[in-house]
Amino acid sequence: MPAIKDKKILASLMQRMYWIESQMEQLGTWEGRIELMDENLEALEVLSHDSDLHGSIMEKWLIRANIEVPVSIPKGLPAHIFDFVGLSTPEIFKNIDKYEVLAMNAYRDMMNADTEVIKELLPGQNDREEFMKDLERLIRDEEKHSNICKSQVKGFAKLMY
Ligand SMILES: [Fe+2]
Repeated sequence: MPAIKDKKILASLMQRMYWIESQMEQLGTWEGRIELMDENLEALEVLSHDSDLHGSIMEKWLIRANIEVPVSIPKGLPAHIFDFVGLSTPEIFKNIDKYEVLAMNAYRDMMNADTEVIKELLPGQNDREEFMKDLERLIRDEEKHSNICKSQVKGFAKLMY
């Protein structure tokens, strides 16, 4: 994707990621509703816990950049991101992984946004430096999350065959 050159596009990407992280935080609520093994539950807990943190990081930047914190689904996102009813464990983690990869790419796009666009949203240099550090951390976390999902899919395949 070419670098983001429009303030509105960066702002709406931040809003969407705030929303997605809040949805991912609720992954934990599936624990009682689907049949999972201990290892899967642990994985789900890590993903849920980190998403909670990521949501707060996005919220912090929305507030600092004077962008509205969404209270309902931002445009372009499905009403229910996750519905695991009737899915097998590998299918569940494949589904989650799609969003981990999407998140990783979204944070990369934010980081690579045109410097002028970032300056418009965050005029203070300290803010911009902190924003970049946070994004680096988010990208690293999402990479880890994607690996967790992939190992859950693989681990299950090993058990099956
Ligand atoms: Fe994640």
